[in-house]
Amino acid sequence: MIQLKNICKYYQVGDDRVRALDHANLHIYPQEFVSIIGPSGSGKSTMMNIIGCLDIADAGEYLLDGLPIESYSENQLAKIRNEKIGFVFQQYNLIPKLTAEENVELPLIYQKVPKKERMERVKEALNKVNMYPRAKHLPTELSGGQQQRVSIARAIVTRPKLILADEPTGALDSKTSKEIIDIFHDLHAQGNTIVLITHDGGIAKQAQRSIHILDGQISEVTL
Ligand SMILES: Nc1ncnc2c1ncn2[C@@H]1O[C@H](COP(=O)(O)OP(=O)(O)OP(=O)(O)O)[C@@H](O)[C@H]1O
Ligand SMILES: [Mg+2]
Repeated sequence: MIQLKNICKYYQVGDDRVRALDHANLHIYPQEFVSIIGPSGSGKSTMMNIIGCLDIADAGEYLLDGLPIESYSENQLAKIRNEKIGFVFQQYNLIPKLTAEENVELPLIYQKVPKKERMERVKEALNKVNMYPRAKHLPTELSGGQQQRVSIARAIVTRPKLILADEPTGALDSKTSKEIIDIFHDLHAQGNTIVLITHDGGIAKQAQRSIHILDGQISEVTL
């Protein structure tokens, strides 16, 4: 499903050129649950942005479901993201003025799904993360763990095959983190491909495979 071939990504900062990703090669198969682990600054988010088609590599080739991602326009990439990928971020990224259900509904509005079907799918997604009882709450009226549940509902409401999560438990205590990771296990059991970025070895180990990244290079893969 995901094939990275010699992917490089550089950032120019003043006179320095930072190699955020340095000839990364990676293959992730459909319905796999993979973690990406590495220290701060090692290139994890850079890799997530490339896998998520939010950014294009400076060199190398990325195939997503066989599509050569670097050959698409920004509009085409937006469509690919919307159809194929659900994103979960450390800081939830919910829109503060919208209720939980309105946040979850938003990707379906972009997809022009009719209102009645939208409401059914929003309810289904919120139920999957046990947040339907809080559907009318604003993000500020929810705990961090609850906001992350809503953001997971938003990620899955479009029924993407691939779910990308960048430090989804980074802002949560250990008990709440476990509840959130359990949701990813459920989603995996339901047939989704999961790529989970973390710097927590205990969380990384729960995936089927851990990709270790150091200084922009994939250093090791553990099972
Ligand atoms: N927009 C940017 N401009 C310049 N340098 C950047 C930019 N984004 C990332 N970098 C650099 O690229 C390298 C990889 O950054 P990245 O954000 O991918 O790390 P990370 O593994 O996600 O770290 P963290 O665990 O702290 O989130 C770092 O050295 C970082 O400073
Ligand atoms: Mg990061």
